[in-house]
Order: sequence, then C-alpha cells, then structure tokens
Amino acid sequence: MLQKQLDYIRSLTDFVPDTALVLGSGLGGFTDEMQIECVINYSDIPDFPVSTAPTHKGCFVFGKIGEAKLAVMQGRVHLYEGYTAQQAVMPIRLLRLLGAKTLILTNAAGGINRDFQIGDLMVIDDHISSLVPSPLRGRNIDSLGVRFPDMSDVYSKRLRKIITECALKNGIEIKNGVYIQLQGPAFETKAEIKMCSVLGADAVGMSTAIEAQAAKHCGFEVCGISCITNLACGLLDQPITSEEVSETAAKTAVKFNALLKATIESIADEH
Ligand code: HPA
Repeated sequence: MLQKQLDYIRSLTDFVPDTALVLGSGLGGFTDEMQIECVINYSDIPDFPVSTAPTHKGCFVFGKIGEAKLAVMQGRVHLYEGYTAQQAVMPIRLLRLLGAKTLILTNAAGGINRDFQIGDLMVIDDHISSLVPSPLRGRNIDSLGVRFPDMSDVYSKRLRKIITECALKNGIEIKNGVYIQLQGPAFETKAEIKMCSVLGADAVGMSTAIEAQAAKHCGFEVCGISCITNLACGLLDQPITSEEVSETAAKTAVKFNALLKATIESIADEH
C-alpha cells in the first residue's frame, strides 16, 4: 500500500525532503512561511486516510524555508475519526520513504501540569501511549524497522536542545513535559485527568504519541511541540470547547511559527 502511495507522489514530484513537519489543530498557517514547490491533497493519494477534523486541511506541502527542504502535513488523521492506528501513521511512514530524516510533530494539547498556562509551548520530552492502540501491532514491516523497537529516547536530545536554544534566541518561553495520548473525541473527565496526572503526564491530547512511536520505529529523529490551548478538565471551573482550542492555537501562531522556523533553519544548518 505504501509503495502505491509513494509511486503516486513520485509521479507528481521528485522533491526529497530533509525534514518533515506535522501541523496540529489550528497551526496550519505555518506553510505561509514557505516557498512552496508542490501541494498534494490526501484525497488524491490512493487509499490514503483523509482528515475529517474541521480545523485540519488535508494535504502535503513540499517546499523550502531558507536552505531547509521541508515536507509539511497540513492536517493529520486521528483515532477518533475511526481510523486504525496503522492508518493514522501511514503519512509518517510515507514521509520517511520520501527521504525525510527528521520529524517535527506539533499538536494542540490540554495542560495538566499546574505550572502551565494557556498559550504555553511545551517541548515534548517523552510520551505515554499505553492507553491507545499501538500502530506497530500486527505483522511487522521489516523494511521499515525492527519488531521490538527501543523507545528509550523517542524525542531526540539533540533536537530538544536545538528547540531550546532557538526559543532562547528568539525570546520565546518554553516548558517541557510528558505528553499523554488518549483516543477522544470526548475531552476527558476530571477523574481521567487526575489519572493522567498520577501517571506523570503534563499535557493531554488526541494525537502525536502513536506518530512518534511509528516514526521512531522507521528511523526518524523525532521531536515534538505542544501548544497548550486550554487547561485540562477540572483545572478550571469551566467546560472545554474545540472553539477555545482553535482560538488559543490561532493566538499563539506567531510565536509558534517563529519557533518552528528557527528550529527548522537550525536543523538544516547542522546538516
Ligand atoms: N484534551 C484532549 N485533547 C486536547 C485538549 C484536551 O484538553 N486540548 C487540545 N486537545
């Protein structure tokens, strides 16, 4: 299946990305910063999962930022849309087959850590994916990676250092923490957030951890940044809405995009 999708993309472009970037809810505006070479809609790729989330477009954008050759996923698919974990990570595997070596994952997330504020950016240090199905379940694709991949350093120390340095240089405050993925689509209950907190999570969302797991499996160097769009259930005495998530993501876009751009350029400089 991946080969058919790869062949389709290769029939349209011979662009070979160095870095792949997944843009989360409300963060799709980053592509305005790029010199775009080619856009491919997910719906045109054979047997490809198409995102149904309202704030997600659904395309690959290939192009450059400075010297960096980028493949951007404008929109991803989620487990709550009914896709399997294997389907949800198909784009990640395809990006690897297209030649990308570095992967930057972004998302909107609810803040669990009491030190977090709405609008904070959190560098993902580690994740908890144990409560959602593994994308590596089933027959292993040996050409991608090993049956039992090591997950002791999913989020590359080197890339986390680059993000931290870029944040410092640009006067952007960042937090660090553990991201936990749940299935959604319902936001969590107060009891569930208490559970996540006890488990050691600092932020909660409905994506990313399975993508990071599949990315590590197929040999990507991975990093991730969460935009804390709201405080998780029970931290404030008010309901959580997808509107709040989108509004905060839009408000943080300027600093988020500045951090991403600096990070991508810095990664390209080190290559
Ligand atoms: N929970 C789960 N996913 C989310 C949240 C949340 O509070 N905010 C943004 N995505």
